Amino acid sequence: MKKFVILCGWLFAINMLVAQPASNPKASDLIPKPLNCIDKQGVFRLSSVQKIYAPIEFTEVALLLAEQLNLGNPVVKQNKGASIVFFKADEGENLGAEGYKLNISPDKISIYAFTRQGAIRALFTLIQLQLLQADITQIPCAEITDSPRFSYRGMHLDVSRNFFPVSFIKKYLDLMALYKYNTFHWHLTDGPGWRLEIKKYPELTSKAAFRTHNTWKEWWKSTRKYINEGSPNAYGGFYTQEDAKEIVAYAARRGITVIPEIEMPGHSEEVLAIYPELSCSGKPYQSGEYCIGNPETYTFLENVLVEVMAIFPSTYIHVGGDEANTKHWEQCDKCQKLKHEKGLKNEHELQSYLIKHMEKFLKAHGRKLLGWDEIIDGGLPEDATVMSWRGISGGIKAVQQNHDVVMTPGETYLDAYQSDPRTQPEAIGGFLPIKRVYDFEPVPQELTSDQARHILGTQANLWTEFMPTSYQVEYMAYPRALALAEVAWTPKENKNFEDFHRRLQAHYRLLQRKNVNYYRPSTFLTVTAQPDDIMQQDQISFQSEQYMPEIRFTLDGSAPVATSTLFEKPFYTSGKTEIKAAVFSDREMKGEVTNYTAEYHLAVGKKVVYNQLWSDSYPAQKEQTLTNGVKGSLTYSDKQWLGYLNDFDVTVDMENKQAISSVSVRFMHQPGPGVHLPSFVEIQFSDDGKNFTSFQKQTHDIRPDNPELIFKTFTFDCKHTGARYILIVAPNVMKGFMFVDEIAVY
Ligand code: ACM
Repeated sequence: MKKFVILCGWLFAINMLVAQPASNPKASDLIPKPLNCIDKQGVFRLSSVQKIYAPIEFTEVALLLAEQLNLGNPVVKQNKGASIVFFKADEGENLGAEGYKLNISPDKISIYAFTRQGAIRALFTLIQLQLLQADITQIPCAEITDSPRFSYRGMHLDVSRNFFPVSFIKKYLDLMALYKYNTFHWHLTDGPGWRLEIKKYPELTSKAAFRTHNTWKEWWKSTRKYINEGSPNAYGGFYTQEDAKEIVAYAARRGITVIPEIEMPGHSEEVLAIYPELSCSGKPYQSGEYCIGNPETYTFLENVLVEVMAIFPSTYIHVGGDEANTKHWEQCDKCQKLKHEKGLKNEHELQSYLIKHMEKFLKAHGRKLLGWDEIIDGGLPEDATVMSWRGISGGIKAVQQNHDVVMTPGETYLDAYQSDPRTQPEAIGGFLPIKRVYDFEPVPQELTSDQARHILGTQANLWTEFMPTSYQVEYMAYPRALALAEVAWTPKENKNFEDFHRRLQAHYRLLQRKNVNYYRPSTFLTVTAQPDDIMQQDQISFQSEQYMPEIRFTLDGSAPVATSTLFEKPFYTSGKTEIKAAVFSDREMKGEVTNYTAEYHLAVGKKVVYNQLWSDSYPAQKEQTLTNGVKGSLTYSDKQWLGYLNDFDVTVDMENKQAISSVSVRFMHQPGPGVHLPSFVEIQFSDDGKNFTSFQKQTHDIRPDNPELIFKTFTFDCKHTGARYILIVAPNVMKGFMFVDEIAVY
């Protein structure tokens, strides 16, 4: 007993230590992790800075450093006596386009870079290191040699679904710079509002920038109308060309390129409401797609792009291209005439005709076209670069055709839930905890190393349907954007989630200092039950968003308390075991109890005959899924949930006749993305696999429009019925997706 108390006391002390992040984090705490970095003894005191010297090409960077450090104007033209010195590195040092070397010693900081971009990355390494400190008057000594894995490291922001002021865009850019992002993809136009002043078309901002409802959700549920700026109920806003130029300059100073996105041919309801002559019907509020057969469409878009190019010096101009509905073009005389004249096979090729036209137009102005992966469907323009968002397959296809690609699949969609959706403000759906972001690998295995060079990098996408305020944007972006920053910067072989998680602890201070409304790590526990075929038991472990939490658990159904068993290493459970666990600190439970039923049941490893096939989109573990003993998590994309567009109809073969005491099967309900329960579940038994007798049918009382995420287990008390085969059927009445993770038999 005494020993136990001492053990607890010791662990307690450890946890007290880890709960308080170190007050003087080192270079080895930086995010993204530098290529090479050695922590050194001692600190450089900022009060000692009298002079900063930089050669002429880095003078602007030195001024920015002085500004960031609040040092007034100590930038001098002579190296002598300067305590922070920028050096132009030799080409032979191979620092590359964005690399740098940084030596911080107690009396001097030396920064070496070959390019201005490299000098800027070094600057923000220094500033990050400063802002991690409890005492920001000092910077710990270190030697760093660093350069990025990918040349494109982006963050996107949708300012159409909600409008955010210039001040917030600057804050967004400040954080991007601190974490070495170099591209801001500004989604400026979309159905919910046009956001950029175009002098030739003033109605784009006087009317198409303003809608009838404040939140996107209310507007989306309404008849989706636009009203004039100044109307009492108008909601919206736009950036003047001066605002946009100010943003471009602000970003450029921080080494960030701004890529504007002007959507075409779809997602353009707001334009076509005020210029209906550019749509197939010629009437407002009929479609979101430009008429491709109308020459005026090209004139309009080119006029817009001319003004856009005058504001944005980026090589790339993003033209959207996603999710266009081909229906209007199919029924439009002008579109069909153009299609036949040009010998185009279908409406995808028609879309491609417009995109190819725009690519030539941009190229004639010295720019390059960037578009979402739908631009592949009807044939890619010659030099287009693709953003692969519908998974990675579009990206692979584009690379195989020798095109450059930015990989932005689901793992980069920071509009998805980051923690248990049942505990979070409404989001678009999905489930993307920070570890899944961190584990994302932008280069698909299918590509050769030569082909891999076409993967320019990756980007965090922030669509703002459910982010009505800048606070909510920050909540969704941070800290996940730190994980993607490391994906984009750090070589794959140097990445390690445990180490990232450790380093992240020091960054909360920085985020607090910068007043970022980041998502705070929850005390919610994830339970993993891994079936062990040899032991015929489940191996149980817990994961937490907390760093090194004190987890205590029970297996007897009682609520855990401060003296319950401490989780130190994975343990085993047999059969059906109810696990209750919670995080403790200072002898108090933090947050709520996590309940989980581990089930090493009789059907684990048994054969299942699929009388109806699952959907190719969600094959999970294919025929193993339902009896592999592994439950699905909170998301249907975790490869443990088998997706059905058909009815569910399977037969489990228990290998010999036996007394069945219970059968259960679990489904998911999440109507947002179209995931529904069956109308009922029925089980039937058989000895020979041919003649089945119905045992029972169960319905449920969950309304199809209940917006919550619900997991529904249908459990049948089988009263020891003797059977070898169990048939389970569940009709898909809603005609959306049904997801099933496991059939448990006892
Ligand atoms: C997209 O998410 N529609 C590109």
